[in-house]
Amino acid sequence: GPGAVILGLESSCDETGAGLVRLTEDGVELLGQELASSQDEHARFGGVVPEIASRAHLEAMTATVHGAFTKAGVPFGAVDAIAVTSGPGLAGALLVGVAAAKAYAAAWGVPLFGVNHLAGHVAADTLEHGPLPSDTLALLVSGGHTQLLHVQSLAGQITEVGTTIDDAAGEAYDKVARLLGLGYPGGPVIDKLAATGDPKAIAFPRGLTGGRDNGYNFSFSGLKTAVARWVEQAERDGRELPINDICASFQEAVVDVLTAKMVRAATDLKLSTVVIAGGVAANGRLRALAAERCEAAGLTLRIPRPGLCTDNGAMIAAVGAHVVRAGAFPSSGTLSGNPGMLV
Ligand code: KG4
Ligand code: ZN
Repeated sequence: GPGAVILGLESSCDETGAGLVRLTEDGVELLGQELASSQDEHARFGGVVPEIASRAHLEAMTATVHGAFTKAGVPFGAVDAIAVTSGPGLAGALLVGVAAAKAYAAAWGVPLFGVNHLAGHVAADTLEHGPLPSDTLALLVSGGHTQLLHVQSLAGQITEVGTTIDDAAGEAYDKVARLLGLGYPGGPVIDKLAATGDPKAIAFPRGLTGGRDNGYNFSFSGLKTAVARWVEQAERDGRELPINDICASFQEAVVDVLTAKMVRAATDLKLSTVVIAGGVAANGRLRALAAERCEAAGLTLRIPRPGLCTDNGAMIAAVGAHVVRAGAFPSSGTLSGNPGMLV
């Protein structure tokens, strides 16, 4: 019940995260969190190398968990439950977090919950903006996922409305950054360069928006190819690459489609609140265009601050808190079900 402290562990990709939250009368309070990242080690490969990520989690996990307790001002081990990302993600990377969580749960004699990573991204918003209404539309945009989700409850009922049929939005940012020689991860650097570019300079394609294709699914691989073709042609012509205009035009194509489909899905499904979550939700232009279009459509928009958009342990703890509130308590040390699992 209220007052319960929950530790959340995240290790599905290249961030090792530990966060502590407290259940309040009507919400979830963030107490403190710690993060370690192997991003720099993947930079020269242009994407996450699973084996490097797993080893980095192994090396960082213990210090990250201790760091979260210190930052939260909670005595080490003084928690009522543990939540850990159990999927989706890189198998070897997930295993490190799950093994650590099992060990802590057994040592401290507290229940352990397996949490869906995607539910975690959505739950991150409740740490900043309070409880979600019982029916919400979530746009989840990360390096591995691009989905529209109908969220009935963060403790369980989440239904997929639409998804990408090829690349994820963050993956498109990363691939375009790679071909422009901008390094990894691509999102933040493209976001920054695009701010001084012209989004109308190049008319890049809007995937799956024409006629019969205009459902709730996304496609970004054609866009990535179009950027590659454009760059090749400019190089053949011996023109200097207008990097900022390419970034701005590419970004506009991504966020135009994301926000248009999000608003249409919310309107069609009669969901008046939308949440944008995941690493790409940190994007400045996505935040601005979503705000503009949601206001025009009469929708309430919620986006967590950038620091809560990318992978972290607190968002996993937040899902754990919703599960604790819902009253599903497994016995100590065992990994229960899959709260927040997609149905
Ligand atoms: O949620 P996240 O931290 O990890 C996954 O679960 O994938 O998302 C990482 C992704 C990367 O593809 C990164 O390029 C993208 O989020 N990203 C951004 C921005 N910051 C991170 N994309 C666009 N604009 C940003 N400001
Ligand atoms: Zn993520």
